[in-house]
Amino acid sequence: MPDTITITDDRTGKTVTVPISGGVFPSSALRELDPSLFMYDPAYLSTAACKSEITYLDGDNGILQYRGYPIEQLAEKSTYLEVAYLLLNGELPDKVQLEAWTDDVTHHTFIHENMRKRFVDGFHYDAHPMGMFVSAVAALGTFYRDAKQIDDKESRDKQILRLIAKMPTLAAMCHRFSVGQPFVYPNNDLSFPGNFLNMMWKVGEYEVDPRLERAMDVLFILHADHEQNCGTTAMRVVGSSHADPYSACSAAASALYGPLHGGANEQVVRMLTEIGSIDNVPAFIQEVKSGTGSKLMGFGHRVYKNFDPRATIIKKAAYDVFEVTGKNPLLDIALKLEEAALSDDYFVSRKLYPNVDFYSGLIYQAMGFPVDMFTVLFAIPRTAGWLAHWQELLGDKDQKISRPRQWYTGVEARDYVDLGDRG
Ligand code: ACO
Repeated sequence: MPDTITITDDRTGKTVTVPISGGVFPSSALRELDPSLFMYDPAYLSTAACKSEITYLDGDNGILQYRGYPIEQLAEKSTYLEVAYLLLNGELPDKVQLEAWTDDVTHHTFIHENMRKRFVDGFHYDAHPMGMFVSAVAALGTFYRDAKQIDDKESRDKQILRLIAKMPTLAAMCHRFSVGQPFVYPNNDLSFPGNFLNMMWKVGEYEVDPRLERAMDVLFILHADHEQNCGTTAMRVVGSSHADPYSACSAAASALYGPLHGGANEQVVRMLTEIGSIDNVPAFIQEVKSGTGSKLMGFGHRVYKNFDPRATIIKKAAYDVFEVTGKNPLLDIALKLEEAALSDDYFVSRKLYPNVDFYSGLIYQAMGFPVDMFTVLFAIPRTAGWLAHWQELLGDKDQKISRPRQWYTGVEARDYVDLGDRG
């Protein structure tokens, strides 16, 4: 098969031949044909905006790899901090590197007292924790004058360390404020997920259960990156203006805040609660199929058209968590719903399978997280992915400030009409 593609402009008869690799050809082909040509591509469905070496995703075959490692192996064998190192550096750390990286992250977990006392206290008593979190990430950058030195690798590495280390602290701070409980300082004797659970739940004597600590870490691994999704694209677009990484991460977190992106697992829990009993499942499925009800939340994916490999891992993790917490009463409804959908031609023919969000909400709920915290839980580990993409962007000579074009569909130029003459 030839490794070129030829495009002809029928208006002029001009032809241009360009290389095609992995199904991608450079848009410079269009400019060669006619410098005033642009593609109309809403939501970038057919546009690769960057080259990336970080995450590989094959939606038809249910494959997800970070830096070439299958997600299944990472979820089974590694820790979130190892995975964050892998995403950022391209290789798994050796023992010495992992020790140094863990030590560094662990010693950057504290936040400035003004964040804890004055900043967070300014929020309304019923503020949404994700709204607080988005603002807190941006505010954090103002504590570091060196945050803007993005041309200096040493400074970039320092900000990366700070952001990864402080996200759990900010997340727990927002939660504790929203439930009216006092802030819990980081405990640097604990692991990354263990410290987070401790900051979330510590009241009096509290010991982190190692099974929940591991489940939290697995969930962090599964959510660490997912190539050019909406939040990561926001990170790259803001990063392309050379804004500091705190502002860019805050923009990425804002994108995640939307219910079409990070908020689907919340919708799954609401949907299962509304269904209320396994007896109501057939009627609910009928409603979905007829188009009179909502969609089956937690099913379907823009990219995965076979299965979402993260969903399989999460389902197993759910059982591990339920061993500790007791079964989430919504589990039976979820299982029945999954069984009914997977044997129904409507869902099978449309390639609709459970996605990562179908079971993650059930786990979070069983662990005691309020529904409002679900998106915050997503943002903590996704920070590693955002920052890996930010680094890659800054080192990519092909990149410039993001500046898409538009297809102007407004009226043609006309003369200003004075107020008195407008009727
Ligand atoms: N329930 C019922 N029908 C569905 C569902 C669903 N969950 N998802 C898609 N369909 C139907 C569509 O109505 C459409 O049917 P039609 O061909 O008769 O018109 C067909 O399947 C194709 O669906 P599209 O909307 O074209 O698929 P798309 O790739 O654009 O959407 C999306 C993907 C947004 C994830 C969709 O499947 C959906 O809304 N799912 C529910 C929400 C959800 O779980 N989101 C989490 C995604 S994972 C994440 O973001 C971390």
